[in-house]
Amino acid sequence: MNDRTILITGASTGIGLQSAIGLAKLGAKIVMVGRDEGRTARAVEHVKSQTGNELVSYLLADLSSLQQVRKLAQEFKDKYGKLDVLLNNAGAIFLTRKVSAEGYEMSLALNHLDYFLLTDLLLDMLKSGPSGCVVNVASRAHYRGHVNFDDLQSQHGYNGMRTYGMTKLMNVLFTYELARRLQGTKVTANCLHPGFVASNFAGNNGWLVRFGMKFMSGRISVEDGAKCSVYLASSPDVQGVSGKYFNYDLKETRSSDESYDEAIAKRLWDVSEKLVAIGK
Ligand SMILES: NC(=O)c1ccc[n+]([C@@H]2O[C@H](COP(=O)([O-])OP(=O)(O)OC[C@H]3O[C@@H](n4cnc5c(N)ncnc54)[C@H](OP(=O)(O)O)[C@@H]3O)[C@@H](O)[C@H]2O)c1
Repeated sequence: MNDRTILITGASTGIGLQSAIGLAKLGAKIVMVGRDEGRTARAVEHVKSQTGNELVSYLLADLSSLQQVRKLAQEFKDKYGKLDVLLNNAGAIFLTRKVSAEGYEMSLALNHLDYFLLTDLLLDMLKSGPSGCVVNVASRAHYRGHVNFDDLQSQHGYNGMRTYGMTKLMNVLFTYELARRLQGTKVTANCLHPGFVASNFAGNNGWLVRFGMKFMSGRISVEDGAKCSVYLASSPDVQGVSGKYFNYDLKETRSSDESYDEAIAKRLWDVSEKLVAIGK
């Protein structure tokens, strides 16, 4: 991976941070995206000290804001000029309904529109390299998801789990549609479920949820939770593989029936283009 440049979102903690460690160990140049300067700078130092790789740096953006996603993409282009792997990893569940700076429901903004817009803005860079790759961290929660085009903003009877499942299904639909649109190029797009991981996930929902999560059984370590992201971002086994969903055991797996519906994927793409164009 010595000549590869990798951009990782949500890299200040959890699966993203551990993915940065895994990929830095392989010698790649890593750009970690966080939203808090102190936390992200400390994460960069942690990766350097764990791996001995000094080619690790960071950029800042609140990825729930489309304006900040655009600014991030421009800063990345100006500063680095080359991109081989985009690892879209930042994500969260919101147990009560919140809205982003541009007025979008938060899960939609952070979990889907961020992946969609950032990929779109950086796709030319990926295409100009020898073998670009997009890796989207989805979730098995997508199996319970359904894209409700009549209520994409989850304004009616908000249920955080349901909305999270919908946005994670969007990650899978987006990956498959992107892979179809990238046919004939050297860029691949895949997505994954990282496992049920002992990260800070859901910790944004208050101390009671944070406390409860600590005692959840069956969670795997962040080291194990990052394995599939590292694998899809670096392994020769998946060179040329595109439009697939992988499980944390590194096995290609069938995703939900709805995720294979090309009409839904195309409709989601068209709607997303309209949503991200606002404020351009
Ligand atoms: N943990 C699981 O069991 C599990 C299962 C399936 C899928 N996933 C997926 O795995 C991915 C990583 O989650 P995780 O488990 O590592 O959770 P985590 O420990 O909470 O990490 C989430 C990362 O996303 C960042 N982030 C959150 N909101 C952001 C925003 N508005 N702007 C920029 N960055 C933001 C966080 O930054 P801060 O440090 O600033 O908060 C953090 O770096 C997510 O996409 C999640 O949906 C997780």
